[in-house]
Parts: sequence; structure tokens; C-alpha cells
Amino acid sequence: MELAMINDTVVDMDQAKVSAHDRGLLFGDGVYEVIRFCNGKLFEMEAHMSRFEHSLREMDMLSQVDLAVIRNRVDRALDQSKLRDAKIYFHVTRGSSPRAHDYNNSWQPEFLLTVRAVKDHHHQETGRAIIHPDWRWKRCDIKSLNLLANVLAKHAATKAGAYEAILVDEKGMITEATSSSVLMVKDGALWSAPLQANILPGITRSLLLKWAEDLGLEPQEESFSLVDLKNAEELMITGTGTEVMGITQLDGQTIGNGKLGNYTKQFQKKLVAAMQF
Ligand code: PDD
Repeated sequence: MELAMINDTVVDMDQAKVSAHDRGLLFGDGVYEVIRFCNGKLFEMEAHMSRFEHSLREMDMLSQVDLAVIRNRVDRALDQSKLRDAKIYFHVTRGSSPRAHDYNNSWQPEFLLTVRAVKDHHHQETGRAIIHPDWRWKRCDIKSLNLLANVLAKHAATKAGAYEAILVDEKGMITEATSSSVLMVKDGALWSAPLQANILPGITRSLLLKWAEDLGLEPQEESFSLVDLKNAEELMITGTGTEVMGITQLDGQTIGNGKLGNYTKQFQKKLVAAMQF
């Protein structure tokens, strides 16, 4: 059963309500995670919890949040849902109070969680992407609720008949995509932008970089440009929802041979195998 949780209480998905004073609603003042539950187990839970801790710390929120309580709520919600394959979303916002930009140090966190069923384990293998300017703020290493620039770029992709928008900064360098990381295969290496404040440390991305050598690819965390991207042998996007998707067309231009690449296919297999535990 799909369900939601507000603070400590499990509720029906459509009964979940938050306060009109919630700072998440008013300012996007909060942080979140999305995690897969596969075959009755949480996938890469420790990595998600440590990224969540990083987000909370960088947002000056960690002192008010008990991570063990959150971990326990996730388990409780999954238990009650009785699902074996699900996607868990949760966020913590900086409390509820009449709208004022500043906060005081006694704020109380507001927690929201949803559990949604995943019916088809295998995600789309290939898709198209567009290029879009990266209009986001300068702390994209924090998984914050402020996703307006991501939303606009994603919609531009949908309007163009594409799945994702790959973001390019003002220097012409690739950062990531609206809700996935970007990796490319070129000259025997698996490239992805280095982990700096301008990208989210994607957990799926880190798995692919770890597996690269098994496939005879050198992991290369270095900046690359839009020109490099267009000349990639294989281009892929990765994420908790997206899994590993080969991008075969970029702004209407064919990438590689226009089909699912051999390395991409192998990474897809490795991820599916890892998710099934
Ligand atoms: N998005 N980059 C961005 C900007 C993201 O929002 C995400 C994930 C990723 C991939 O990270 P991971 O492999 O750890 O899921 C990269 C989630 C799924 C979302 O916002 O729904």
C-alpha cells in the first residue's frame, strides 16, 4: 500500500497535509532524499543517509534533526506499506512559522515521507536529451527543496520531446542534468564532472565510477565541455529514478551510433544486479 508520513504519523497518501506556514512551502527551506527499496531492502541506504547529513549540516539544520529517528521512520513506513519494491521520498523542512526570511535557533523540523510502489524494475534503456543553461544556485551539492531551475529545464526537455535536460554552465562546461548525473565514455575513460559545489554527489554516479575499471574504463572525474559531450562515444545519465539511461540524441544530434552503447548496457546490467541484492 502506498502511504505518507507526517512527522511521526503514518497517513493515507491523499490525507497528507502540511501547514501553510511550512518553510519548505514558503521558501524551499529544506532538504530531501529519494531512495529505492528493492526486493525488501534499502538500496545504498548508508550513502543516502550520509548525503542527507551533509545537506542538513550545510543548511545549518543538523542540530535540530535526529538522524536515528528518521531512519526509524523510514523502516516503520516501509513495514506498514508491506511493499517489496518502492521509491521512498522524504524531506525535512526548517519548521513552520509565520512567513519571515530569518529563522531563530529553536525551530522544530517538519518531516514528510512518501512510499510509492515501483512496478516495473527496469527503467527505460535509452532516451533523448536537450542542452539547457544551468540556472541553479551555487550550492548544488546540497539536496535542497529549491528546484525551480531544475523544473524549468526539465519542462523545456519535455516540450522538446526529450527525457532530460543536460545543464551547461556559463563557461560551456557540463555540470549534470535536472534530476540525474551525467557521464560519458570517451577515449577509454568514463568521464563525469568532479564533485564540487556545482553538482550533487550522485550515488548512482559513484557506483558507475567504482565499476568502471571492471569494464576496462578509467574513471575520470574531470570537467568536460559541451563540445566533448557531443563527441562522446557513449553518453549516459544516472539516478535513483532514472537508473542508467543511454542518451542517444542530444539537441537532435545523434550520439555515438545512435543506439544503446555497449558500456551503457553493461552498466545497466550491473546496476540491476546490485539492486536485486
Ligand atoms: N534526483 N543530480 C541531481 C540534480 C539529482 O536531483 C539527482 C537525483 C541526481 C542523481 O543522484 P542519485 O544517483 O543519488 O539519485 C543527480 C532525485 C532522484 C530526485 O530529485 O527525484
